[in-house]
Amino acid sequence: MRQTLPTPPGPIGIFDSGYGGLTILSKIREILPQYDYIYLGDNARTPYGTRSYEVVYEFTLQAVSKLFEMGCHLVILACNTASAKALRTIQMNDLPHLDATRRVLGVIRPTVECIGKITLSRHIGILATSGTTRSKSYPLEVHKLFPDIKVSSQECPLWVPLVENNEAHSDGADYFVRKYIDQLMQQDPQIDTIVLGCTHYPLLMPKIEKYVPQGVRIVAQGEYVAHSLKEYLNRHPEMDRKCTRGGRCMYRTTEAEEKFTESASTFLKEPIRVERISLDF
Ligand code: DGL
Repeated sequence: MRQTLPTPPGPIGIFDSGYGGLTILSKIREILPQYDYIYLGDNARTPYGTRSYEVVYEFTLQAVSKLFEMGCHLVILACNTASAKALRTIQMNDLPHLDATRRVLGVIRPTVECIGKITLSRHIGILATSGTTRSKSYPLEVHKLFPDIKVSSQECPLWVPLVENNEAHSDGADYFVRKYIDQLMQQDPQIDTIVLGCTHYPLLMPKIEKYVPQGVRIVAQGEYVAHSLKEYLNRHPEMDRKCTRGGRCMYRTTEAEEKFTESASTFLKEPIRVERISLDF
């Protein structure tokens, strides 16, 4: 009788459409430095935020399958668009066929869980990609946990291209950063908490802080996602045992290696080595 050998432990996979997930990876590595990680950025096909459900799902499933193939037992979708449009289907329909023992987690739920403790006015704003905004995932998740909170959402279609094209600190970026923040605040001036519902947006933080009205709190997700992962691993020792510990991080991109190395090194403030891979099977 043929027996399948159990897959050996492996690194934790962190996936994003581009550089944005690096903001999550940095926080995760700060809080959980002992584990090994593989970061995968689908930079060749970014942005995901303006793509249809079908396409975001197809691309995300390809990325998850690749990370499983590379030995990951646990994959974090460090991308709100993929979490909004693909996570549930992958968890419900694909995992049972791919490998029912592996897990894929997203970033929306851990972010929403913290909101109730932060807002005092109970009026919050979400800045996100068009895809995440139109999926209504944030208001739906917030109302499941905190039905009393009023949620206003604003899509910011030009913010991801600014980051991906290394324009986050340029003078030209100010116009679009201010525009979307003003539009959000006009929807509801009582907002006291703004969630950056896209993992690329913390890379625009100096400009965002400049235009958010005084007294309004800005929530970046990294810290909350990292703490939630820590709790998840504590609650699931069987998964914890499948995550290797060595403090290493490997980087993979679907774009040219030089381009990723240059941009990612600026965001991470440390030199990295990256390998190009293809996700088209
Ligand atoms: N960083 C991603 C997010 O959190 C996706 C941005 C994009 O590719 O549009 O939504």
